[in-house]
Amino acid sequence: MKYKAYVVEENEGKFSGVLKDLDVPQLENGKALIKVHKSSLNYKDALAASGAKGVVRSYPFVPGIDISGEIIECSSEKFSAGDKVIATGYKIGMAEFGGFGEIVHLPEDWVLKSPKNLSHQHAMSYGTAGLTAAASVKKIMDSSINNDLPVLVSGSTGGVGSVAVGLLSKLNFEVHAITGKPNEVELLNNMGASKIISREEFMSEPAKALDKGIYCGAVDTVGGDILAKILSMISNNGVVTCCGNVGGMMFTSSVFPFILRGIQLSGIDSAESSIDLKSELWDLLSDEWFIDLSKQTKNVKIGNIGPEIEKILKGNQIGRVVIDHGE
Ligand SMILES: NC(=O)c1ccc[n+]([C@@H]2O[C@H](COP(=O)([O-])OP(=O)(O)OC[C@H]3O[C@@H](n4cnc5c(N)ncnc54)[C@H](OP(=O)(O)O)[C@@H]3O)[C@@H](O)[C@H]2O)c1
Repeated sequence: MKYKAYVVEENEGKFSGVLKDLDVPQLENGKALIKVHKSSLNYKDALAASGAKGVVRSYPFVPGIDISGEIIECSSEKFSAGDKVIATGYKIGMAEFGGFGEIVHLPEDWVLKSPKNLSHQHAMSYGTAGLTAAASVKKIMDSSINNDLPVLVSGSTGGVGSVAVGLLSKLNFEVHAITGKPNEVELLNNMGASKIISREEFMSEPAKALDKGIYCGAVDTVGGDILAKILSMISNNGVVTCCGNVGGMMFTSSVFPFILRGIQLSGIDSAESSIDLKSELWDLLSDEWFIDLSKQTKNVKIGNIGPEIEKILKGNQIGRVVIDHGE
C-alpha cells in the first residue's frame, strides 16, 4: 500500500520538496500507524524543509512536527483502531517521518488521545506553536504574578506569539504586543492585544541595565536583543518565558532585573516536555483556555506548502497554517 508525502530531497547541496508516493511501513513493536488528518506549519518545519543544519538527520525526509489523526493500527492495547490522536514534537519531523505525509509510524509513547471536543482542524490550528504558547502562559499562571500591570508578547503576529496573545487576553491580562508588522493592528486587536508596539520603536534605544518596571511578565518568542530589553522592563517578581531565536541566539543582560527585582527567566522546550504535561496543556486548550483561532488560521493543501515555507523563513507569516492532505 502507498501513501502520499511531501518529501524533501537534497541535490548538490540544494533542498527541494516534491509530492511522492511512499510505501506504508510495516507496524513495528512499540509503535503506532496513524492516518494523518491534518498537520501544521511551524518554524522548525521550515528549517527541516530548507535543509537547515542540525534539524533533520538525513535526507530524503518528510517534515512535519505536528499530527492530528486517527490510529490505523497499534502494537499494544494502548490505542485501538479509529482512536483520535495528537502527536507533536519529540523526534517527529526530525528523525521520524512527520505529518507532511498522509501516514506516520511513531513510537506509541509520543502519541496521546485527543480531548473529545477538539477537532483535527482546531488541534492543528494550535499545533506545536499553540502548545508552546500554552506552556509559556502556564509558567506565568503558575507563578501567581500580579496582573495589575500589562504583559508583553514579542513576535506577536507569529504562530507562538499570536496564540499567546489570545490566551493571555482570555485569562484577563492586559496584553501589549511587539511586532515587526505594526500595520496588523486590527488583527492583533482581534486576537486580544490592547496596545501594539512597533518592534523598530521598541528597539530604537538599547536596553538599560535596569529600566522602568512597567510589565508584570512577558512571553518572548524571538530572543536576542529584544529579550534583553524585555528583561530590563519587568517589575518585581515577574516572569519572562523564552522559547525562540528568530531575533537572535545570543543576548546580554545585566544581573539587576534578577537581583534587584527577583524576576525569573523561564525556558520552554515544548518538543521534549513529558507526555503528561502535553496532555494537561491539550486539555486546557480544548476547554478552559479554548480560543477561536479561525480568523488567524489559513488552510493550505500539502502540495501548495512551498510558498508558505518561504514566508515563515522570512518572518512574514501571520498566525497559523493548517495543512490538509488529500486531493
Ligand atoms: N522552544 C520550543 O519549544 C519552541 C516551540 C515552537 C517554536 N519555537 C521557536 O519559537 C520561535 C517562533 O516560532 P513560530 O512558530 O511562532 O514562528 P513564526 O510563526 O515565524 O513567528 C515568528 C515571529 O517572530 C517575529 N520575527 C521574525 N523575524 C524576526 C526578527 N528578525 N527579529 C524579531 N522578531 C522577528 C515575527 O513576528 P512580528 O512580525 O509580529 O514581530 C514572526 O512572525 C521560533 O524561533 C521557533 O523555532 C520554540
